[in-house]
Amino acid sequence: MPSHRFGGSWTERKLAALRAYLVQYQVIFHANESARKLRTIYVDAFAGTGERSNRNSDAEHLFGYSDETKQFQSGSARIALSLDQQFHRYVFIDSKASHIGALRTVVERDFPSLKEHCELVQEDANVWLQKWCATEDWRSSRAVVFLDPYGMSVEWKTIQAIANTKAIDLWVLFPFAIGANRMMPNDVLPEKGWGLVLTRVFGTTDWVKRIYSKRSEVDLFGERRDSVIKIAGADEILEFFIERLRTVFPHVVEKPLVLYNSNKSPMYALCFAAGNPKGGTTALKIAAHLARTR
Ligand SMILES: C[S@@+](CC[C@H](N)C(=O)[O-])C[C@H]1O[C@@H](n2cnc3c(N)ncnc32)[C@H](O)[C@@H]1O
Repeated sequence: MPSHRFGGSWTERKLAALRAYLVQYQVIFHANESARKLRTIYVDAFAGTGERSNRNSDAEHLFGYSDETKQFQSGSARIALSLDQQFHRYVFIDSKASHIGALRTVVERDFPSLKEHCELVQEDANVWLQKWCATEDWRSSRAVVFLDPYGMSVEWKTIQAIANTKAIDLWVLFPFAIGANRMMPNDVLPEKGWGLVLTRVFGTTDWVKRIYSKRSEVDLFGERRDSVIKIAGADEILEFFIERLRTVFPHVVEKPLVLYNSNKSPMYALCFAAGNPKGGTTALKIAAHLARTR
């Protein structure tokens, strides 16, 4: 795991890494003659409103979104729209109609020249992404996808669909410490509902044998009792997720950017994977550098 870094909130570090990556991405696409022929697309699939959030929903508290976020003005959508060098197309997805409405206002008011290049979609991110990955013409397009959910909302099927395109650079925020780890109790398997969520996120039931060990004991009355014990913590859960990414992407940042709350407890990891076997090499170098230095 990268060493614990202080200074700046986790939200700021996350968005700074995204911004730096998007700038570099555009530099590469503008500098390289064959890359210049490709259409570039930015997809922000948990887009929010474009601005910092003032709301205090339960999900925001549970997953660490509270007062810490309030000092930051620009959300990921605004950051992407503000780049000097632009993408050919921007897609912003959010399941909440009010967030899409607010984002539409931001685009129309502050980025009118980009309006024709923006698509705003009120839909479940997983549904939209899986459809889009299967239908876009990837011979002529390349994309950066940013997945910034509150919790354990990104399905493995979505990650798999993104990897299958071999044309997408993926940034995904994984709540390894405050999501996955908390869903896994110490001396019993997660209850059925949580178990299903974990399997949907990891795309396999292998997390059970990776995180839990079976125990068998004989009690005072000579009866055998089978139980389980948790043998792994948050770091191993993150390692497992990175291993899972490596099964479908040729390029994965091994040491993602770990984000801590103001009490210095780990919360999320901003993970990066690139699907293009050739172009992904440079992307990986840039992303690994950003993960080390943000
Ligand atoms: C952490 S916020 C995004 C913050 C944003 N990236 C920013 O920097 O401003 C997560 C957003 O995802 C939306 N959301 C939650 N579940 C979703 C889903 N299944 N599909 C699409 N959007 C979803 C929420 O409404 C919320 O706006």
